[in-house]
Parts: sequence; structure tokens; C-alpha cells
Amino acid sequence: MKKYFVIGNPINHSLSPELHNFWLKKNNINATYEKIKLEENELENFIKRLRNDEIHGINVTVPFKNKVIKYLDKLSLEVETTGSVNTIYKNGNDIIGHNTDVAGFELGLRHSKINVLHKSILILGAGGVVPSIIYSLLSMGCKKIFLSNRTVEKAEDIKKKFDDIDIIKWGETPDFDIIINATSVGLKSDSLDLDLNVKDKIFYDVIYNPKETQFLKKAKEMGNKTENGKLMFIYQANQSFSIWNNVIPKIDHEALKILE
Ligand code: ATR
Repeated sequence: MKKYFVIGNPINHSLSPELHNFWLKKNNINATYEKIKLEENELENFIKRLRNDEIHGINVTVPFKNKVIKYLDKLSLEVETTGSVNTIYKNGNDIIGHNTDVAGFELGLRHSKINVLHKSILILGAGGVVPSIIYSLLSMGCKKIFLSNRTVEKAEDIKKKFDDIDIIKWGETPDFDIIINATSVGLKSDSLDLDLNVKDKIFYDVIYNPKETQFLKKAKEMGNKTENGKLMFIYQANQSFSIWNNVIPKIDHEALKILE
């Protein structure tokens, strides 16, 4: 029986096991998917278990997306660019690190019919997921990316990976078509202190629990289209599942419901 895991710390909140086990069952695949909380000094040995074929695939979440890299043999281009791994698998004798957050973000937008081609995009926040979002937006042909973070140094670190983006002072808002909240503000019914008076724009929040943050609620009231990060989450899982099991699992009503 194959064994898959998601590793992180904390890990209790993760809904990946529910989703993957649902798809495993639906596709009659004899495998298990569990969450496991690790300490940083346990990463190397845990990845060795993949090398020894004791386990068969690992999803990686906060705070290890970058820390696992040194234990891997090969990295996908997405990982090379973003410095972020969320999916590990074995190919021949090599342990490969891949990043399906990039494809997850794109597929989620396509699912919602949000077109970023030639659009100007303002990203708020500079946490772990932001390089994946930028990679994805650039590959889809957006016109311009502005990045704004409370702590400017973190935005500047991201600019080292993506020279073409513009850093904007926290609190300033350039003209944009799409604004993405990638900060953690909104997780606890708190609200971003931004004075935005716009309409007919797209407001996207990476947070999907709660499903409507104050950021999205206010945006909707002003007459903007809104979208949360649920589809990004489900599509990144879908891509990991496809890599490990050679099956593209269905994203249907039942699968979407797991994340509510
Ligand atoms: P991750 O776990 O995704 O790496 P993180 O590094 O904790 O997340 O990043 C969270 C993001 O939310 C950061 O961009 C953080 O801004 P700072 O870099 O200035 O800390 C942002 N953030 C958190 N609380 C915030 C607040 N009250 N106002 C503005 N930004 C906030």
C-alpha cells in the first residue's frame, strides 16, 4: 500500500488529508495520506524514507517549503525560481522537488474565468506563497506586477527573484486591474487597513477560510468581483495527486465541499 504525507509545523489545520483520501477512494487507489508534524531536524530522515520506498510522496507546507530543498536531488524550474517546494516524489533514483502552487494558482484563475493577460496586478504581502503567485502571473502574460509589503525588505528579497516587478510603499495603491491579498490579515476576522475606493476590479484573497474575508466583503460592497484561494488550494492538491498517481482526480461539487 502506498503512503503519502503532508509535512509542516503546525499541521493540524491542513485539509489535504481529507481531500487526498477522498480522491484516493474515488479512484480505487490503495493508499493512505496523512498529516505529520515534524521538527526541522527530522526533515532529512523523513525524506530518506522516500528514498527507501517506505513512503511514496510528500506535500510540504509552512515552514518547510524552502528548508527541504537541500535534501532533494533535482528541482523543477518552478522550484528553482520560487525557492519553494510543495510536492516531493521519486523518479528513478532521484528525489524530485516540485511546486504545484504555481499551476494551482493558474488553474484556479482559469476555472473562475479570470483573465490576467495584459492586466496590472497589485500583490499585498511577501510571505511564502507570493513567489509562486508571481511566477504564475508572469507565465500567463500579465502586464505589470506591483508588490507591496508592510516590511519592505521582504518585498525586496522577492524582487531579487523577479527583476521585473515594482515595489510600492505599504499603504500606496497604484492603478490596478486585479488586487491580491497574500498577507495573513483576514484569517482572524481582522481587516487590512487600506483605503480603497474602486469598483469593477477583481479582488482576490489567498485565504479561503474564512471564505469571505473583510477584504473581499468590502470589495464586493463597492462593486468589485471577488475570489478566494479555495480553487488554488484544490488545484495544487489535484496536481500533486496527478504526479503521484497518474490520474487527474475530478474537482466536483463533492471535492469542493470538503474545503467548506
Ligand atoms: P507565510 O507563512 O506565508 O510565509 P508570513 O511569512 O508569516 O507567511 O507572511 C505573512 C504576510 O502577511 C507577510 O507579508 C506579513 O507582512 P510582514 O512581512 O510585514 O510581516 C503580512 N502581514 C501579517 N500581518 C500583517 C498586518 N497586520 N498588516 C500588514 N501585513 C501583515
